[in-house]
Amino acid sequence: MKSFFHVSDIGDLGAALEEARQVKATPFAWKHLGTDKTIMLVFFNSSLRTRLSSQKAALNLGMNPIVLNIGQDSWKLETQMGVVMDGDKSEHLREAIPVMTSYCDLIGIRSFAGLTDRGYDYSETVLRQFIDYGGKPVISLESATVHPCQAFADLITIEEYRTKPRPKVVMTWAPHPRALPQAVPNSFAEWMNAADVDFVITHPRGYELDPAFVGPARVEYDQMKALEGADFVYAKNWSCPGVTNPAQYGQVLSKDMSWTVDAKHMAVTDNAYFLHCLPVRRNMIVSDEVIDSPRSLVIPEAANRVVSAQVVMKRMLESL
Ligand code: CP
Repeated sequence: MKSFFHVSDIGDLGAALEEARQVKATPFAWKHLGTDKTIMLVFFNSSLRTRLSSQKAALNLGMNPIVLNIGQDSWKLETQMGVVMDGDKSEHLREAIPVMTSYCDLIGIRSFAGLTDRGYDYSETVLRQFIDYGGKPVISLESATVHPCQAFADLITIEEYRTKPRPKVVMTWAPHPRALPQAVPNSFAEWMNAADVDFVITHPRGYELDPAFVGPARVEYDQMKALEGADFVYAKNWSCPGVTNPAQYGQVLSKDMSWTVDAKHMAVTDNAYFLHCLPVRRNMIVSDEVIDSPRSLVIPEAANRVVSAQVVMKRMLESL
């Protein structure tokens, strides 16, 4: 595997889930693969789970992880091409990328969407530069439009807890005070469409995700109707993707608290499990009662971030 952005990069999902099961059961069995190998984990944005789970996965595989926080540990980096660098950014990605990749065997990048220029974000401009100028396998640790390590961990969790051959999985938009990227819902949709689940997306009008990620999923604008009979409820906020109105890209169009997932919403499901990628705003996205209930899987879901990252790194090491 040379890059990890989309569900297609992992190949057969059944084989990937079986590999995840083996990695979880015997996490240190492939320590030899990473001996004398280094992974660089580059963060343009904050992280708790991705930073720690990626380091843990690398250590389980015997690799040395190096974490770099851009702008804190390093010079501030310019990411736009062709600009006069007379501002506060001291170094361009064009030089920084090949320098960083000369020190490592694999590289992971966290670089959120700016949410001001849809074309720039949806071209994955920063991530593409790491591919073009780095020459090493690249993992998206949440880039402008995708968060594949999260979606793979979500699928692993659904596989572990499902009690039906084809469970109903509902991804619901929920309110948040700030504008958030669409990477998590994009990837979750992409991975659920590839999995053997009955997948439904619900959100207020104006929040339509990019059709490339929605694919064949059913979209239901009535949240309570969408949640009926659900086996898994995946809550997430996202800002306006600008599909129906490009001028609204990245904006907060609604803070409608009736969309907050609470006991009333869970009551219409088939005793569904609750999922969220974290960090979560309690009593905005989900009520205390739901996230603290025995049906909440947010902690095992986060723990599976080590497993998804380790499967991806293992495959990359195997193909070096
Ligand atoms: N879910 C997730 O990616 O968490 P962090 O932003 O803390 O890494």
